[in-house]
Amino acid sequence: GTAEFPILASTSGASSFDISTLTKQTGHTTLDYGFVNTASTKSRITYIDGDQGILRYRGYPIEQLAANSTYLEVAWLLIHGELPTADELAEFDERVRRHTLLHEDLKHFFSALPHTAHPMSVLSSALSALSTYYENGQDPKDPEQVEMTTIRLLAKLPVIAAYAHKKSQGQAFLYPDNSLSFVDNFLRLNFGNLAEQYEVNPVLSQALERLLILHEDHEQNASTSTVRLVGSTGANLYASISAGINALSGPLHGGANEAVLEMLGRIQESGEGVARFVERVKNKEDGVKLMGFGHRVYKNYDPRAKIVKESATAVLDSLGIEDPLLDLAQELEQIALEDDYFKERRLYPNVDFYTGVIYKAMGFPTRMFTVLFAIGRLPGWIAHWREMNQDPQTKIGRPHQLYIGEGEREFPQ
Ligand code: MLT
Repeated sequence: GTAEFPILASTSGASSFDISTLTKQTGHTTLDYGFVNTASTKSRITYIDGDQGILRYRGYPIEQLAANSTYLEVAWLLIHGELPTADELAEFDERVRRHTLLHEDLKHFFSALPHTAHPMSVLSSALSALSTYYENGQDPKDPEQVEMTTIRLLAKLPVIAAYAHKKSQGQAFLYPDNSLSFVDNFLRLNFGNLAEQYEVNPVLSQALERLLILHEDHEQNASTSTVRLVGSTGANLYASISAGINALSGPLHGGANEAVLEMLGRIQESGEGVARFVERVKNKEDGVKLMGFGHRVYKNYDPRAKIVKESATAVLDSLGIEDPLLDLAQELEQIALEDDYFKERRLYPNVDFYTGVIYKAMGFPTRMFTVLFAIGRLPGWIAHWREMNQDPQTKIGRPHQLYIGEGEREFPQ
């Protein structure tokens, strides 16, 4: 089993290596397929080099995919490992379009929730509820059922997301228009009944497609490892992805884009200026945090953030909007990147830093931002769940625990 841990093996020396002593002292284990679902996981899907700022899906650089592909094309790539042929893509797209409708009864589900419900809570619970309509079609070991569930999830999650949005605004739900592309249909479901004659703005549509592609996968982040862990129990795709959505909802994960916009809003309201805010971050003043900066794996500019920043300018220009929050964000980035404090700590803007400004310009309320992240991430979650389930060596996940509590104690008589 030491082949899994070459560092341990080489530092200890192959002949004198005593894994049992090491295990007791440090909590390290030898090969444990349960443990790998939450710790050192092997995957063929996404490659990240955090030092260089490189991100590739199935070997293809993120920049090229974002510039040339559609969301569904990249979804296919992540799930199947190859880019689809034109026929495969057309069939996939057609199948997704055919499954966008939700059962009418699900409308009652939305009516039962308060309009103040956070759209992420609506999304995760609606997904669990959705599974009850397909109880005979979600066997994780049946490839056809897994494929059908994949199509249903890709088709219906955006509709649920749009209804969560409409619900929060007290507005009517629209039926999907399946003559439209995936992204245009989604934009119409969100904004279609706000204009008499709704026409999707192609700049917004392209920017949203790009943002969704950028979010499609990011290897073993908190929500993806949650999906894998839940899926390792034999739970179906609906249950596993609903769990992933809950993991994503936290402000340290997908909720960060929402938090960035709130931070920019506070800086604007306080009138204190960006330089002063940066000083307060450096002094670690209570409650003052620089959101959207730094990343656990990137010690360089997040390659996604570069593309998001370009899209932010394009979207605002096309709408003729001047958002002082974008100016603030750019000023903040510039001041921080020139400051030794941030340089030494290698803190750069991450993917969440500019997304909120774009979503806001598109007309999404702040609480929808993380929902948009979830739609983006869906193909990655599905791809990981399927990769794990196809591996005959997968066992139920169980993080290894190192006990650090009290020794045995006598119960007081
Ligand atoms: C993500 O895309 O999931 C976030 O950047 C968080 C992460 O990768 O850990």
